[in-house]
Amino acid sequence: MEIQSIGPNEFLSIDGPASVRVIDGRLYVLGVEYGPGSSFTVMRGRRIIAKSLSECKIETVLGPDGKIETINGANEVIDIWDKALSTIRLRNSTVVVMGAMDVGKTTVTTILVNKGVKEGLKVGVIDGDPGQNDIGPPTTISASIATSFITHLTQLRNLRSIFVKTTSIEHVWDYVLNSMTKIVNELWHNYNVDAVVINTDGWISEENAIKFKLELTRRTGANHVVVIKRGDESTDLLKELMKIAVNVITIPSPPNARVRDRDDRKIRREMGYSKYLMPSRELNVNLREKPIVNLPLFNGLRYDNYITRLIRRSLNMAIHYIEQWRGAAVAIGNVKDFQIRNIGGVNIAILPMNWERGLLVALEDRDNYLLSLGVLRKIYYNTGKAVISVPKTFINEGLVDHIRLGMIRVNDNYEEVEKVLYINRIESLLSSQNILENSN
Ligand SMILES: Nc1ncnc2c1ncn2[C@@H]1O[C@H](COP(=O)(O)OP(=O)(O)OP(=O)(O)O)[C@@H](O)[C@H]1O
Ligand SMILES: [Mg+2]
Repeated sequence: MEIQSIGPNEFLSIDGPASVRVIDGRLYVLGVEYGPGSSFTVMRGRRIIAKSLSECKIETVLGPDGKIETINGANEVIDIWDKALSTIRLRNSTVVVMGAMDVGKTTVTTILVNKGVKEGLKVGVIDGDPGQNDIGPPTTISASIATSFITHLTQLRNLRSIFVKTTSIEHVWDYVLNSMTKIVNELWHNYNVDAVVINTDGWISEENAIKFKLELTRRTGANHVVVIKRGDESTDLLKELMKIAVNVITIPSPPNARVRDRDDRKIRREMGYSKYLMPSRELNVNLREKPIVNLPLFNGLRYDNYITRLIRRSLNMAIHYIEQWRGAAVAIGNVKDFQIRNIGGVNIAILPMNWERGLLVALEDRDNYLLSLGVLRKIYYNTGKAVISVPKTFINEGLVDHIRLGMIRVNDNYEEVEKVLYINRIESLLSSQNILENSN
């Protein structure tokens, strides 16, 4: 523990883990004035900039790697952000925060949440970044309601999550769009919030990324978009946003932001899976009663031995299981990699043995909201049952309506070992034959 005095209008850079208590004076942090007796924490791996509004005396406790230092505020963005964000009237507004990776989206979301709380509003918050989600587990978009000041979105209780199958939005942006719209509506209509703030992922420069961000703005009825600009990364996005009826506020990214590389992000996600799923237990699910929505095994047509033999001969491989729905079929065959073959006008998706092992899945309710994440261990084709690892604490088995396959394979240590992109190809194949319901 350390006690420190700071002059007025000084800037502090605080690297977590750290906790700070104001003894005397006033400290401005993420849109909030902390006065005598109040305190806040900075999480591990995060940096928060504070500004003293008067002579201050603070007490700090630093964890390993925690650090606190006064910095030259000449390049600091606190005041610029504050001025720009104070032009937003939050009541009855939906605000979307956009920008590339590491520009401060989550931080700006936090500031907006605090500003709403300061106005006495019930603020709906959506973390729409399935890669680095701070409200719910990775692979979801998650929502919460804030009624008190925070320094990190992780301090918010997860109210609602929708599983979007993967952490890379570019493969599932259509589904994410539907899910975000749905969860925004839910916050307005079922939770009676006074404002909604949406944090987004860092995918902004490809054509589809821009299309996604524009549609998100339109479909959620957002009236303000905050774009955090670093270099010319967001130029194309800004150009398109200017064409639609939304108030666009552009702010600079902080000069000293901590950058997280791919490995950092992956490790953080893996910690997210294990924190969520461990300790775990095994759940037996009858897939005839609780089907896999994006691969509805056991409700199609089974062949007799004669036809199976013909198919086996025609494909020239051993087939362990095969099932057909109209013009599409799924087989478990002796292949190394996923493939689609055509026999007599029927497209057969052939999956390798053990294709399911370690696949991240969601157990969902009838409205497609997440009840629990799980890891698929095995499917028994003779009985139609699946074994899924779920958190030991999961008790809502009775509410499970169906299972949704994800596109990430994890090993026993919850490390991501494969992005299983063929799940999308199976879905397209089955959708093209009208076999899958349009969910969401
Ligand atoms: N004004 C600032 N000065 C220095 N560092 C900052 C400032 N604001 C935020 N940071 C730090 O910069 C890092 C990136 O910020 P943040 O997580 O808000 O960005 P992001 O755009 O959400 O990143 P991601 O792409 O990972 O979602 C974080 O460690 C954050 O604590
Ligand atoms: Mg973020």
